[in-house]
Amino acid sequence: MGARCASTLVDRIRAAGVPPESAVAAAFEGGAHRGRSDTIARPMTKVNSLAVLGAGTMGSGIALVAAQSGIRAVQIDPARAQLERARGYHAKTMARAVEKGKCSAADAEQTLARITYKDAVADASGCDWAVEAVIENGDIKKQLLKELQGVLPAHAVMASNTSSISITDMATAVGADAHRVIGMHFFNPVPLMKLVEVINGLATSAETTERTMELAKVMGKTPVAANDRAGFVSNRVLMPLINEAFYAWMEGVAKPADIDEIMKLGCNFPMGPLRLADFIGLDVCHDIMMVLHRELGDPKFFPCPLLRQLVRSGRLGDKSGRGVFDYPKG
Ligand code: CAA
Repeated sequence: MGARCASTLVDRIRAAGVPPESAVAAAFEGGAHRGRSDTIARPMTKVNSLAVLGAGTMGSGIALVAAQSGIRAVQIDPARAQLERARGYHAKTMARAVEKGKCSAADAEQTLARITYKDAVADASGCDWAVEAVIENGDIKKQLLKELQGVLPAHAVMASNTSSISITDMATAVGADAHRVIGMHFFNPVPLMKLVEVINGLATSAETTERTMELAKVMGKTPVAANDRAGFVSNRVLMPLINEAFYAWMEGVAKPADIDEIMKLGCNFPMGPLRLADFIGLDVCHDIMMVLHRELGDPKFFPCPLLRQLVRSGRLGDKSGRGVFDYPKG
């Protein structure tokens, strides 16, 4: 099955006109790390427990979706307040699901009972899987991967929810275990968004990819594979669109609310690009543009001066109460 998955990707690469002898195609086809018999002869290991590093918006969403799928989730964050926020979010979301008749009170209780809240990476010990969803900082992510490598069993996959940092680069932190590192990019709000963008680093094994695809499906998501290039597909396409909306605003093409209305009504977007930027966080959008700019080397990815100014002034979007739009508390 893994071999079939890998060859599908190679077919796509070929269809896109990339010569099969390219490094990327070779990696998918069984190049550097797949010269050995990596065609997944053994059965998939069931994922019973999953550690989520980081209890922010994304991490808390991932832990909840895992628990809803019957997986024991260990939500890990050194910040007590963050863990309590995650616990509150889980309780509120499940209470609402019961209220709306989407699940029984007993199911909600069982889901919540599957989540434990811990403050150290060591608490991931024994888990079958880990997803890191911490701040977008390559050095911090590498350090965490190293720590995970020390506590997880040998079969466990180390996934990153990074939105733009190179999986190949991150995986160098764990040396020979790089084949167990993969990108598992969820979208906000995690319980509602169907996609998991699955990113293969150069050393990611076919087995890891296959297991990740399986796990995403178990979690009720649709996995779609992308190659390890800055921003992958989602943010390579989304962030320049958001950036361009800031240019349109800066140049006075239309007012922010009208830019959003045009894109909502004209393109059927659920949110306009400027509202979405606030929702994602203007600082996050800015930082992703900087990664695209640095890694792809094209000036078109440089963040709009107005976006930079807003970030510098502390207008970060929903989380700070003000971004493009205002979000009064309460
Ligand atoms: N968690 C759980 N449930 C949530 C939720 C959350 N965070 N937010 C909303 N919901 C639930 C609500 O409770 C509500 O449930 P009921 O139907 O049972 O009442 C339901 O979802 C719909 O909520 P709303 O009526 O408030 O919202 P809506 O219909 O306007 O939809 C939205 C909200 C789903 C966020 C929609 O506006 C949307 O799809 N926006 C675009 C989101 C998007 O593009 N996300 C990707 C961002 S990019 C990213 O994440 C990756 C990156 O790397 C930057």
